[in-house]
Amino acid sequence: MNFKKKYGEYALITGGSSGIGKAIANELANKGLNLILVARKKEELQQAAKEIKAKHQIDVVCITADLLTDEGMQTAKEETETYRIGLLVPAAGLEVNGAFEKNNLEKELRVIKLNVTVTMELTHYFLQKMILRKKGGILLIASLSGHMPNPYFANYAGTKAYVLNFGASLYAELQPKGIDVTVLSPGLTKTPMTADNGVDWSKTPMKAISPEEVAQTAVKALGKKLIAIPGFKNKMMGAMAKHTPFKLGAKMGKKMMDKAINPNKL
Ligand SMILES: NC(=O)c1ccc[n+]([C@@H]2O[C@H](COP(=O)([O-])OP(=O)(O)OC[C@H]3O[C@@H](n4cnc5c(N)ncnc54)[C@H](OP(=O)(O)O)[C@@H]3O)[C@@H](O)[C@H]2O)c1
Repeated sequence: MNFKKKYGEYALITGGSSGIGKAIANELANKGLNLILVARKKEELQQAAKEIKAKHQIDVVCITADLLTDEGMQTAKEETETYRIGLLVPAAGLEVNGAFEKNNLEKELRVIKLNVTVTMELTHYFLQKMILRKKGGILLIASLSGHMPNPYFANYAGTKAYVLNFGASLYAELQPKGIDVTVLSPGLTKTPMTADNGVDWSKTPMKAISPEEVAQTAVKALGKKLIAIPGFKNKMMGAMAKHTPFKLGAKMGKKMMDKAINPNKL
């Protein structure tokens, strides 16, 4: 597939300075798309852009913005005004874990705002011009957590279930209008988000895969698949989740996490 022809000149990737967003940025650069990367930390953002530019003959634009603020959202919209954005990848996301009632409410609200509200608002905004051009693509980042109950990640799992259903619903709505929608549902991935989040993943059957593998699966699925689950073990877990009643899945999930989560968080 010729990505530039299919989607247009630029891909906008929020959270493009780190982890899965950065790996997707590299993968799309490999396909010849120009990039616009959005994140809060200017230095990390510029470093990511520099690394990508060194490997690929493409344009990389950096937008420093905190998408949790009205000003940040405004900046992201204004600074992208003159670019033809054919592909949207809202990869910026947050995670909080622990016994729900002990978790800080402000942090949990930020998780909902970034993972759900910002994702939905950016999709609504950037879709307008795609619809006029009758072409474009949206790569939403859910998680395996959105496919099954995930005790001690209750709010996070809820936000990812939203993204999964939002994307699947849009997939059918937008297909006749020439817009591709793919929902990426990674399992445990080696990124700063999971590096030090109070869970000893070695005590679970989960094995982290690289963000590069996640990004390759995601970009390969664009325009072809609705849901992309990277990694064999994760695919199996996704398939099992479809056939496991929520009550049983929740109990099994709790048993697994009880062994792995920092006891101070319970
Ligand atoms: N890692 C996993 O195991 C895993 C599994 C399933 C799904 N996911 C999902 O994949 C996505 C990416 O996660 P990741 O693991 O790659 O995380 P990460 O390495 O922590 O990267 C998060 C990115 O989002 C940016 N960001 C955070 N808050 C922001 C804000 N308020 N405004 C603008 N940018 C912001 C960060 O840059 P700044 O800090 O500079 O803003 C960074 O570029 C998330 O949606 C996550 O839920 C991850």
